Amino acid sequence: MKCTLGVCYYPEHWPEAQWAEDAAQMVDTGLTWVRIGEFAWSRMEPTPGDLRFDWLDRAVETLGAAGLKVIMGTPTATPPRWMLDKHPDMLAVDAQGRPRKFGSRRHYCFSHQGYRAECARIVTLMTERYGANPHVAAWQTDNEYGCHDTTLSYSPAALQGFRIWLADRYGQIDSLNAAWGNVFWSMEYHTYAEIDLPNLTVTEPNPSHVLDFRRYSSDQVAAFNRVQTEILRAHTQAPLIHNYMGRTLEFDHFAVGADLDIASWDSYPLGFLEDRSDADDAWKRAFMRQGDPDTQAFHHDLYRAVGRGRWWIMEQQPGPVNWAPYNPAPLPGMARLWAWEAFAHGAETVCYFRWRQAPFAQEQMHAGLLRPDGGAAPVLAEAAQVAQELAEAPDIATGPADVAIVFDYQSAWAWDTQPQSADFDYYRLIFDFYRGLRELGLNVDILPPDTADLSPYKLVLIPGLMAWNDTLRAALKAHEGLALIGPRSGSKDQNMGIPTSMPPDLSDLGVTVTRVESLRPDAPELLEQCGAVHLWLEHCEGAAHVLEQTQSGHPVLMRTGRQLYLAAWPDPTAMRRILGDAAAIAGIRTFPMPQGVRRRDAGDRIYYFNYNATPVHVPDLGQDLPPAGLAWTKQKG
Ligand code: GAL
Repeated sequence: MKCTLGVCYYPEHWPEAQWAEDAAQMVDTGLTWVRIGEFAWSRMEPTPGDLRFDWLDRAVETLGAAGLKVIMGTPTATPPRWMLDKHPDMLAVDAQGRPRKFGSRRHYCFSHQGYRAECARIVTLMTERYGANPHVAAWQTDNEYGCHDTTLSYSPAALQGFRIWLADRYGQIDSLNAAWGNVFWSMEYHTYAEIDLPNLTVTEPNPSHVLDFRRYSSDQVAAFNRVQTEILRAHTQAPLIHNYMGRTLEFDHFAVGADLDIASWDSYPLGFLEDRSDADDAWKRAFMRQGDPDTQAFHHDLYRAVGRGRWWIMEQQPGPVNWAPYNPAPLPGMARLWAWEAFAHGAETVCYFRWRQAPFAQEQMHAGLLRPDGGAAPVLAEAAQVAQELAEAPDIATGPADVAIVFDYQSAWAWDTQPQSADFDYYRLIFDFYRGLRELGLNVDILPPDTADLSPYKLVLIPGLMAWNDTLRAALKAHEGLALIGPRSGSKDQNMGIPTSMPPDLSDLGVTVTRVESLRPDAPELLEQCGAVHLWLEHCEGAAHVLEQTQSGHPVLMRTGRQLYLAAWPDPTAMRRILGDAAAIAGIRTFPMPQGVRRRDAGDRIYYFNYNATPVHVPDLGQDLPPAGLAWTKQKG
C-alpha cells in the first residue's frame, strides 16, 4: 500500500486570495489530501434556504487544481444559529435536565427527527453538487460523534424515541418488567408511556433500564449517521469516512463503521495523556512530550477493526493543543514517529490538524502546521520529512497478529452503570491487557464482540465481557488456540442480570464465580509468584486446574484445556508475567521491550519506536534509538 499525508483546512477562515498559495504550499510539503467543509454550514446557508455554495465550488477547484484530493465534510456537527429558531427543541439535554446551548458545537440531540431531516437536506444538496466532482475523493460524515459527551441526551425527543425503541424490543410490557426485574422496589410499568429516561432518580436507577437507554442512545448515533450515508451512496462512489475520537465509548463504533468504508480517528497523543489517561503523574511527566507509548497503537488497532481493515488518522496533533489541562509541545521528531507508527499499524493516510493556526475563537491557542502569520511551525518540516520518506518507501504492509483482544462497547456501558468499584473501568481493564502485550513486543488485533471466527489467532483475550452472545460462544467453542477469559466476563446475561448458570457462564470451563469483591487501590493481594492482583478479586469453585494463587491461597488463574480463566485484575508486573506465560502456552514468541520502546511487525519490516525522552539501547535491534526516534529492519527469514 502507498501511504499518504493530508491536512485539515478551513478555506472559510482565510481570504480567498490566499487559497491558491496555501494549496501550492500543501503540495510542496508533500501532502495529498485536504479535508474541508465540516464546520461551514453558516457559510453554505447563512439563512434558511439561502444557499451559497459558490465559495465552496471555488475552494474545491483551487485545491483540486493544485493537485490535492479533497475530503468533503458534512457540516452537521455545527448547525447554524437559525436552526434553533426552526427547531427550538433540537438541543441535547444533560443528565441534570439542562439544555446544552448554542455557542460552541455539537449542540444537537441525535434523537431529534426534525434535525435529522435538516441534515438529510444539507447532505443531499452537497452531494448533488459535489458527489461526482473529480476533486472530491472522499467524504466525512459529521465530526467526532459523541465528542464533548454528546451521545447521551435526556431530551423530550430522546424520551419519545426510547419508548418506541423499548416497545419494539420487548413487545408486551410484562416482558420488559420481567427482563428488568421491575418487581424490585415496585418499579413495574403498565404502559410504555409510563417509562421515563433514567436520570434524576432519587438513588441509582435500575441498571437494566440504564443499559437499555445506553443501547438506545448508541443506536441513535448509528441511525443519524445512516441518514447521511444512504444519501451519499446514491450520489458518489467516493469512500465514506467518519473521524472517531480517542477513548470514546458511549456508542458502538462497530455499528457506525458498518455503514462506512473507512474508519478514521483523531489522534492527540499529548492531549490524551493529560486529559484521559489512567496513568500516574510520574508516567505522565515521563511521556508528556511524546504521549503514552500504547494509547495511539491501541486506537490504531481498534479502528482498523472498526474500518474492517481500512483506516486513517483524520487529525494528527501538530503541536500544543488548547483543550487539555496542560498543553506541552511535542519533542522534535514525535510528529514523524506518530505518523510512522500509524502506517506500521495499517493507516492508509495521516492528516495533520490543522493547516494554519487560527488567530480567533476557541482554538486560537491550538497549533497548526503554520503559525497564525503563515510562518512554518516546527511540525511542518517533520510532515515534509515523512512525505519524503513515504515517497521513497516501498509499499507498506500491515502485520498479522497472533494475539487478539475482544472489545465490546456494551461492556463499557454495563460497567459504567454498575462498576462495583470506583476504579472498575472497561477501557482501563482492556488497556492494561493491551499494554502488557505491547511490552512483550507483540502485535495485537482487536475484534468486535460478534466475531465468528477466532481461528487466525493463537491467543485470544476476552477480559471484562459483560455477556456472551451466541456467535462468540460458538467461535470460542470451535477455537483451537488458547483463550484467556476474565475477569468479570460472562458475569451478566443480556438483560444485565446474573446468569442462572452463574458467571463466567461457560459450561465446559470448570470455573464458577461464587462471589466477587472489589479492592481498595492501596490494598492489592500479592501473588505467590511476582506481582499482585488489585482492584478486583473473584472467588471461584470448580474442577479447573489452578495455575496461580495469591499468597493467602486464593486461586486467581485456572486452566481447563485450551481455556484460562483469570479471576482478578493483575497489576503491571503480574500482567506481563501472566501474558508471557499464556503466550508461551500458545506457542507465541515474545520480545520484551525496554520501557517506552515499542515494536511492530508489518509486512517484511519490523519497526521500533522510542517513546522516551532519552536515548535507549534496543537489544532486539542491536542499536540505540535517539529520543523520539524510530527505526526499521527487515524481518529475518
Ligand atoms: C478535534 C476536532 C477538531 C478540533 C481538534 C482540536 O477533536 O475534531 O475540530 O477541535 O479536536 O484538537
